[in-house]
Amino acid sequence: MPNEHRIEVGGLVEPDRVHRRCYVDEDVFDLEMERIFHTTWIYVGHETQVPKPGDYWTTIIGRQRMILVRGKEQGVHVLFNRCPHRGSLLCNERHGNVGDGFRCTYHAWQFNLDGTLRSIPMSEGAYENTRFAPDDPQFHMTPAPRMESYRGFVFASLAESGPDLRTWLGGSIQAFDDMCDRAPDGEVEIVPNCFRIIQKSNWKIFLENQLDALHPSVTHESTGRAASEVQKDIENRTGKAPPLSYHMLSAFTTPFEVWDTLETVGHPYGHCMLQGYMGLRPTDPDNLEYEKRMRESYGEKRAEEILSVNIHHVLVYPSLSVQSPLQQLRAVRPLAPDRTLTEIWHFRLKGAPEPIYRRALDYYYLVNSPSTMINADDLVNFRKCQDGLQLDAGDWVSFHRNAGHDSVKDGVVTSVTGMSEAPMRNMFKAWDEYMRNGA
Ligand code: FES
Ligand SMILES: [Fe+2]
Repeated sequence: MPNEHRIEVGGLVEPDRVHRRCYVDEDVFDLEMERIFHTTWIYVGHETQVPKPGDYWTTIIGRQRMILVRGKEQGVHVLFNRCPHRGSLLCNERHGNVGDGFRCTYHAWQFNLDGTLRSIPMSEGAYENTRFAPDDPQFHMTPAPRMESYRGFVFASLAESGPDLRTWLGGSIQAFDDMCDRAPDGEVEIVPNCFRIIQKSNWKIFLENQLDALHPSVTHESTGRAASEVQKDIENRTGKAPPLSYHMLSAFTTPFEVWDTLETVGHPYGHCMLQGYMGLRPTDPDNLEYEKRMRESYGEKRAEEILSVNIHHVLVYPSLSVQSPLQQLRAVRPLAPDRTLTEIWHFRLKGAPEPIYRRALDYYYLVNSPSTMINADDLVNFRKCQDGLQLDAGDWVSFHRNAGHDSVKDGVVTSVTGMSEAPMRNMFKAWDEYMRNGA
C-alpha cells in the first residue's frame, strides 16, 4: 500500500516544469494508481464489444482486474474479476461468453450476469449456523462502485463518489459526439480485436506525445517525406489526386509554421484537444456518397455542421486518446512507472458506406498499429525519454514553451500557438490536483 509519509507530492509540479520523479518513481506510481486511476472515470470498453448476453471482456482499472459483461436484459455490468469464495479470478481469458452466468472453475460457485450469487454446490445445510448469508453482498461478485456509459462508451470509477461522467468529461465529451455524429445512424460499432502494445515508458509520456505538434515533422520526417514523394509521383503520372491514405502519412511533413497555426484547448480534469489539420473531405465519389447519406439522415444544415467539426485528437485524461474524425481510440493502462499497456481500437460508423470504414482501417494500420513506422518512431522516443530520465543529470523536465502566454477563461486554456506546451501543462495541473487531493 502506498504510504503517504514516504512521498511528498507537493513540489513535483511547477507551472512550467515537472520533476523527473513523476516518471520514474515507484512511490509516485503507487500514488497515481490510488489517487488518479482508482478515483477518476476510466474507460472500460464499448458496449458493442459485448453484443450478446454473457459476452465479456476483461481489462484493468489501475491495479484492479475488471470484467465488462453484457447482462441478461439490456445493459452492461462492470465487475471485479474475483470470486467471493476464495478469491480466484473468474474470467481467465481476454474475452469470450460465459453463457447465462459465471461459474468459478475452482469450486463451482455460480453467479448471475449482474454478479449476484446464484448457487453453491451441495450447499444444503453446509452453511447452517455460520456467518454466510446468500443475500450478503460480500458473497456476490463486487461491481465497480460507479459505472456510466455515454453513447456506448463505458466508463467506471472505483470511487463511491465524485462528479458524474458527463460533468467530469466536460468539453472532452466532443470526442464521442464527433465520432458518433459522423455516423449516418448516429452510432458507432467497435471492430474487434485491438492491437496491444506494452510501451517501455511512463503512461504520461504517451499522452504528452499525442498533442505535441512540434514532434511530427521531426520524428516522422522519413515516413512523411517518402509518402509525400510517392503522392506527388502519382499526381504527376495520373493527373489525379492520390488515395487519401497517402495523405495520412504525408501530413506528417506539415511544416512547423503550419503546425504552429493550430490550436489546442485544455479543459478541467486534464482533458485536452487538438484541432484538425488533415482535411478529410475529399471530393472523390466515395466521400461524396457518404456526405449525401449524412444529408439524408441529418438534413443539409446539421450534416454540414457535423462534417465541419474540426477536431483531430482528444485526450480524455488519464485513460484515453481519441481521434474522432477517423474513429480511432487508444486506451492507456499503466502497469509500472516504466511500462504502459495501450489498447488500440477503431470503429465503424453505422450507416456509412464501406469505403468510409476502409478509411478508418487505413489510418488504423498506417498510423496507429504497432507495425507502422509512425508508431514505431514514437515508441523509440518514449523509451529514450524513459531511459534518459533515469540519469542523474538534471531533475527537471521542461514545459516552458509559451508558458504564461496561453489564454485562460473559465478554467479552459486555449494555446497561443499550436506548438505551445499548454496541453502538457494542463495535464500536469490536473495531475497535481488529483495527487494532492484525490478525485
Ligand atoms: S474460489 Fe471460486 S468457487 Fe471457490
Ligand atoms: Fe508521433
